[in-house]
Amino acid sequence: MVAEPFVAAHSAHARDAVAHHIIHIFGKPIVMDVPISAVILSLIGAVALGKLVVSILVFLAETFLFTGESLKTFGAKQNRWAVITGCTSGIGEAFAKQLARAGFNVCLIGRNEESLRKLEQEISAKSPLVQTTVIPIDLSHPTPETFSAYSKWIAQPEVQVGVLVNNAGVSHSMPVSFAETTLEEMDNILQVNIHATLLLTRLTLPRLLTKKSTPGPKLKSLILNIGSFGGTVPSPLLATYSASKAFLATWNKALGEEVKKDGVVVRLVLPGFVVSKMSKIRRPSMMVPTPQTFVSSTLKSIGLNRGAQSRVYESTPYWTHAAMDYIVGFVPESITVWYNLRLHKDIRARALKKQQRDKLKSQ
Ligand SMILES: NC(=O)c1ccc[n+]([C@@H]2O[C@H](COP(=O)([O-])OP(=O)(O)OC[C@H]3O[C@@H](n4cnc5c(N)ncnc54)[C@H](OP(=O)(O)O)[C@@H]3O)[C@@H](O)[C@H]2O)c1
Repeated sequence: MVAEPFVAAHSAHARDAVAHHIIHIFGKPIVMDVPISAVILSLIGAVALGKLVVSILVFLAETFLFTGESLKTFGAKQNRWAVITGCTSGIGEAFAKQLARAGFNVCLIGRNEESLRKLEQEISAKSPLVQTTVIPIDLSHPTPETFSAYSKWIAQPEVQVGVLVNNAGVSHSMPVSFAETTLEEMDNILQVNIHATLLLTRLTLPRLLTKKSTPGPKLKSLILNIGSFGGTVPSPLLATYSASKAFLATWNKALGEEVKKDGVVVRLVLPGFVVSKMSKIRRPSMMVPTPQTFVSSTLKSIGLNRGAQSRVYESTPYWTHAAMDYIVGFVPESITVWYNLRLHKDIRARALKKQQRDKLKSQ
C-alpha cells in the first residue's frame, strides 16, 4: 500500500513495479531491482568470502609471522624433564637434541640401548647442564611389565616431567595392499603407533596433571603426538599406517579438550615428508626438510595451527607442509585419495625395482 506511490515516484521502471521486489526495513519500503534469491545468494557469498579471507590471513600470519608459546612455559631451564620416544634416529633424535639444548633434562626411550647411550653421550657433551636418562623399551610389546622401569622412574618425586613427545612410529616396509599386508607388520604398526602411545601417555599424564597443585611457578605441560598427513588424508596401500595415525588424530583431540583445564597443552604435529629412515628420502628439498629443520619449526610454533587451520589441537609446523595441508583442505577427498593411490603405486613400483636390484647385487 505504501510502496505503490514510492515506486511510481522513484523508479524509472514504475510500470514494471509488479516485477520488482519490495522489502520493508524499519518500516521503509525498499525496491529491489534484483530477485530476492540473488540478494540472499550474494549475502551467503559475501560471508563465505569473508571467512575465506580471514582464514587465509590467519594461515599466513601463523605460518610466516607468529611464533608459538615459549618453551619456558613448559619448564625449560627449570629442571624439568622431556620424555622422547623413538629418539635413536630421525625426528625423535632431533627432538631429544633440541629439547636438551633448550634446557630440558631428557629421558630417552627406544629399543636400541647402544644407540640410546651414544645419543646420551652426545647430548651430555653438547648440553652439560642437563641431566639424561636412558630407558630401553621395545614399544612393539607395550605392557605394564615392559614399561615397569619407566613407571618406577616417573614415580620419583624429584622427576618433574614438562614435555612428552610421542614420536616413535613405524610404517609399512613399502606400500602394499591391505590384502597382502602381513599380520606381523599390521600388529607391529598398531602396537607401536597406537598401544604404546596410549600406554605411555596414560602412565605419564597423572604426573603432568599434578603440576598445577605443586608449589613453585605455575608452569604448563606439553604433549606432542607425532601424526602424519597419512592420518589426515586416507592413504591407499598404507591403509594400516594411515588408519593408525587417524586413530591418534581423534584420540589427540579428545585428550586435548579433557586436559586443557589442567594446563596441559596437547598437539598433534603433522609432518609431510621429512628426510629419515622411514621416508627413505636422503636429500632435503623445499618440500622435504631435514628432521632438524622440521623439529625446529615445531618447537617455534607450539600452540599455532599453521596449515591445520580448521582442526583443533593440530599443527602443521613446517611452512611448505603447512601450505600443502591448507590447500588440500579445499580439495575433494575423492581426488586426494585417488592421488595418494597413484603416488603409492609409483613408490611401490620403485621399491620393488630396488629390491630386485639389491637381490641381483647380493648374488
Ligand atoms: N619421515 C617422514 O616423512 C614422516 C612423515 C609423516 C610422519 N612421520 C612420523 O614421524 C615419526 C618419526 O619418524 P621418522 O621419520 O623420524 O622415522 P625413523 O627415523 O624411522 O624413526 C622412528 C623411530 O621410532 C623407533 N622405533 C620403531 N619401532 C620401535 C619399537 N618397536 N620400539 C621402540 N622404538 C621404535 C625407531 O627406533 P630404531 O632406530 O630402533 O628403529 C626410531 O628411533 C613417526 O611417528 C612417523 O610416523 C614421519
